[in-house]
Amino acid sequence: MNHMSSFLNASSSQKMALLEANDILAYGFGRRVCAGRHMADNTIWLAIASILATFALGKAKDENGNEIDISGEFTEGFFRHPKPFQCSIVPRTPQAKDLISAATLTNE
Ligand code: HEM
Repeated sequence: MNHMSSFLNASSSQKMALLEANDILAYGFGRRVCAGRHMADNTIWLAIASILATFALGKAKDENGNEIDISGEFTEGFFRHPKPFQCSIVPRTPQAKDLISAATLTNE
């Protein structure tokens, strides 16, 4: 059973266990597994949680105010990335804006 089908068939408590850094193939495996995987994993979690807590992420809008669809296309190859797309990233609230400004030491 591969990682994806293990994940899809697991109960929610098993899913939490599967989400541990030790089970993420990007960090390698065996004796040479990434020594910084727990730090990296927690850093990524904190970054994503901080972004979601302070920014509203959504589709970009055209000049008429209509949402611009995202093609969903990916690059080819071993490491695949979404092809460039337009999006909207704005502070969630005035308080979030103040928090972001304070954290980035800007006065805007
Ligand atoms: C998303 C972030 C990271 C990814 C995807 C990643 C991935 C990897 C991979 C694939 C390896 C090689 C495993 C192998 O040779 O089989 C590795 C090794 C290593 N990583 Fe990371 N890494 C990340 C972040 C970090 C961080 C933040 C640190 C340190 C604070 C770190 C420290 C190390 C060390 C020391 C090794 C060598 C382990 C050894 O050869 O014994 N990594 N990492």
